[in-house]
Amino acid sequence: MQLTLSPTPLTEVETPLLISGVFADVPLPAALQQAFGDDAIDGRYKQTLLLGSSGGLKARRTLLIGLGPRAEASLERLRRAFAYALIRAQEANVSACAVALPELPQHDRDQLVRAVAEGLLLASYRFDQFKGAASQAAMRQQRPIEQVTLVGEGDAAAVELAQTVYRGVKLARDLGNEPPRVCTPTRLAEVAREIAARGGMRLTVLDREQMAELGMGGMLGVSQAAHEPPKFIVLEYGQKGRGKTIALVGKGITFDSGGISIKPAEKMDLMKMDMAGAAAVLGAMSVLADLKLPNLHVVGIVCATENLPGGGAFKPGDILRAMNGVTMEIINTDAEGRLVLADGLSYAQRYTPDAIIDLATLTGAVVVALGTHISGMITNNAELAARVKAAGERTGELVWELPLLPEYRDAVKSKIADIKNSAGRNAGSIIGGAFLEHFVDGRPWVHLDIAGTAWVEEPPKAEDQPKPYQRRGATGVGVRLLVDLLQHYAGEA
Ligand code: BES
Ligand code: MN
Ligand code: ZN
Repeated sequence: MQLTLSPTPLTEVETPLLISGVFADVPLPAALQQAFGDDAIDGRYKQTLLLGSSGGLKARRTLLIGLGPRAEASLERLRRAFAYALIRAQEANVSACAVALPELPQHDRDQLVRAVAEGLLLASYRFDQFKGAASQAAMRQQRPIEQVTLVGEGDAAAVELAQTVYRGVKLARDLGNEPPRVCTPTRLAEVAREIAARGGMRLTVLDREQMAELGMGGMLGVSQAAHEPPKFIVLEYGQKGRGKTIALVGKGITFDSGGISIKPAEKMDLMKMDMAGAAAVLGAMSVLADLKLPNLHVVGIVCATENLPGGGAFKPGDILRAMNGVTMEIINTDAEGRLVLADGLSYAQRYTPDAIIDLATLTGAVVVALGTHISGMITNNAELAARVKAAGERTGELVWELPLLPEYRDAVKSKIADIKNSAGRNAGSIIGGAFLEHFVDGRPWVHLDIAGTAWVEEPPKAEDQPKPYQRRGATGVGVRLLVDLLQHYAGEA
């Protein structure tokens, strides 16, 4: 979907479909008021109304979308409302439309333009490359909207930024949606290669042998029975001393069967998305490759392997030694994410980072604790946590801190090794964090558990979808948060 910006007066916009927001407490824009009268719609949030042609407009049809009271119109509400409008517009079967940008004096214009553009772009996402010819043809009956003109005052750079960020989210969503036989560790390494070439980044991809040389016992243990070769992927943007050094570490389990501690069959297919943390890191690095932010040194690390059972698999009772020397007793081979991240976080220490953010679909427990609308955050540093939280609020990718009490640190201690990878059902997400803390060398660190937020099921009716900019499947969560965080670091020259 291509977005352009045009300051044409509403009455002059020639388009098969004009979309305009309506606030509950603000009269319709004069052009629409003249065309349709004042009582066409009351502006309730997400209320829609499709209208035919009118003498006063050059648009063939008009879709009004309620935005609620203007004082309550947050950027997130705009993202959601215009995403919803796009879905409704898709039902009108047009290949182009125009969107009137709302007037919202309380928000910075660039932010507003970006939020509207983002909502439209994110909602336009489709994953249909695996549909066969017949269903492809059937789907072509409903044409995708390819061209959107944003009508109003604004800076084209804000639209461009939204499109750049969307490409990163789309990459992360695609990787999460791809079947596990397609999205393999090798595929993630190939994606990293493309990003490195585009962004002038250094790329390192370690194979099994090289991981063994570095003593990456977590990566090696988890990947022991995997047929697909594991990959440890490092993308480096900028260099040490060029502003802050930020390490991003992603869990890249391209399929999590649980291993010997095998998962039940029901919903096991969902475990193709257990690389969502890695996808977020690659998505953010991909955006960085386009934005070329100044004043930053960013290291993106992806720990990629399958977790499969087999005669050669690692076992409950095994003890693995991570790259930093910490020994890990395996209680449950299904707590594999923390084992590969142990090496990812240890490796990150080479860069003496000022901040480390890891993203992982780490625990089912976080879904129990927080549900699917907010990611769990565990941290050793309040300042970094506040930054991440603020980035979450700005982007709508919310995070909530879970307390890393000293008592939970005790829970991961092992009787025969340094730490153990599972400690029962209580506070499972915090204990996951307490495990990871052993690999960050006391540096500022945030762990984001995105097990609940990385995937969304679509309700039968589009109006029941609370975040219409998310489509069924992988959400690409983390990409927008990370990009926002990096933009703020880059802005602090
Ligand atoms: N990948 C799973 C966590 C997960 C669950 C992600 C649901 C997405 C949706 C992870 O590897 C896992 O299996 N965690 C275990 C940890 C336990 C054995 C300590 C879990 O949550 O049961
Ligand atoms: Mn698992
Ligand atoms: Zn997993």
